[in-house]
Amino acid sequence: GAMAEERSLAIVTCTAPVNIAVIKYWGKRDNDLILPINSSLSVTLHQDQLKTITTAAASRNFTKDRLWLNGEEVDMGQPRLQACLQEVRRLARKRRGGSSEDVAPLNLSYKVHIATQNNFPTAAGLASSAAGYACLVSVLARLYGVEGELSEVARRGSGSACRSMLGGFVEWCRGERPDGKDSLAQQVAPETHWPELRVLILVVSAEKKQVASTAGMQTSVDTSPLLKHRAEVVVPERLKLMMRHIRERDFEGFGQLTMKDSNQFHATCLDTFPPIFYLNDISRHIIALAHRFNAHHGSTKVAYTFDAGPNAVIFMLADTVAEFVEVVRRSFPPATNGDQFVRGLPVDSAVLPKELLAAVVTEPVPGAVRYILHTKPGPGPQFVDDPSQHLLGADGLP
Ligand code: DP6
Repeated sequence: GAMAEERSLAIVTCTAPVNIAVIKYWGKRDNDLILPINSSLSVTLHQDQLKTITTAAASRNFTKDRLWLNGEEVDMGQPRLQACLQEVRRLARKRRGGSSEDVAPLNLSYKVHIATQNNFPTAAGLASSAAGYACLVSVLARLYGVEGELSEVARRGSGSACRSMLGGFVEWCRGERPDGKDSLAQQVAPETHWPELRVLILVVSAEKKQVASTAGMQTSVDTSPLLKHRAEVVVPERLKLMMRHIRERDFEGFGQLTMKDSNQFHATCLDTFPPIFYLNDISRHIIALAHRFNAHHGSTKVAYTFDAGPNAVIFMLADTVAEFVEVVRRSFPPATNGDQFVRGLPVDSAVLPKELLAAVVTEPVPGAVRYILHTKPGPGPQFVDDPSQHLLGADGLP
């Protein structure tokens, strides 16, 4: 009856963050296990602004594994989804075999229903697969009572997802082993380490779809000699340097290296044959603007980085936000939605000195930036205790 069915439903909800790499991951040495050719380092962004929320339920009444993404049912047969699900089930089996106490009396043969949503528009082209897989793995692990090292499982969903399993500043160590057991994420510093650090995401108006990262990086591995040099020589040096800048909260060093590494990643894309272009004219406008702003101040006040798309992610310290936001507003005057132009954490108003305006705001491009999202570093995946937040009902459906 209904009561028995409800009692047999195990249900868990989690949220997980987006991360932005400051030393980029680009290229795999194993496509199936998702093992990278170089280590990478990222900043986990705060879930108050960007997050994925996922509910997973298991019941003996379910007849097959099912997944709903933003309300639409999607095929659970995708190999990366299957890899994550099978890995969590394997860890659960292993754990139960090795322990006498029954930690999670959930039958492993029960099928799961999963519903997942982003709190930001997917159309904006903000990376969602990292948060998505980190959230999926967190929620499944909780459902099956699996604890401990889970970045290895999230990595099987999407490489960058392993870094979303931790908050703050996170390194994904490439590892050496062919089985990937040492290709894991580890926290370099918690999100509280650098309280003044802020992040602005400039969502630009893009027209066309880009080459997906998975396909793009494979072509780069196959054709770019620059990428090989980067992975073997440049990244190992930069990682050590970047960790020191973070440890010392040295924005000058952190910012310079962040920009250089983003630029080298996009240079490897241009060195790929046929070449891949992720930056567009607006991205390049933003790059030039950041350099003019820093030159005017005589130090690194803002640092941009771009992933496999034209949106800019810009790091700065809290005392720079109001002035830089005003510079962006003057450089890319909002088309219509003037009131919604700045979203996320509050931004004070600022009056720009005449000299700064003249030196930095040179050729305004109206409407080029759709909006700015103001955020900061944040924690890793969180469990949601409030049952009203579940994305699946008592019947196990969205
Ligand atoms: C440019 O993690 O999306 O954002 O492992 O094939 O799923 P797959 O690729 P993905 O690649 C991210 C590439 C990047 C740089 C980074 O996040 O380090």
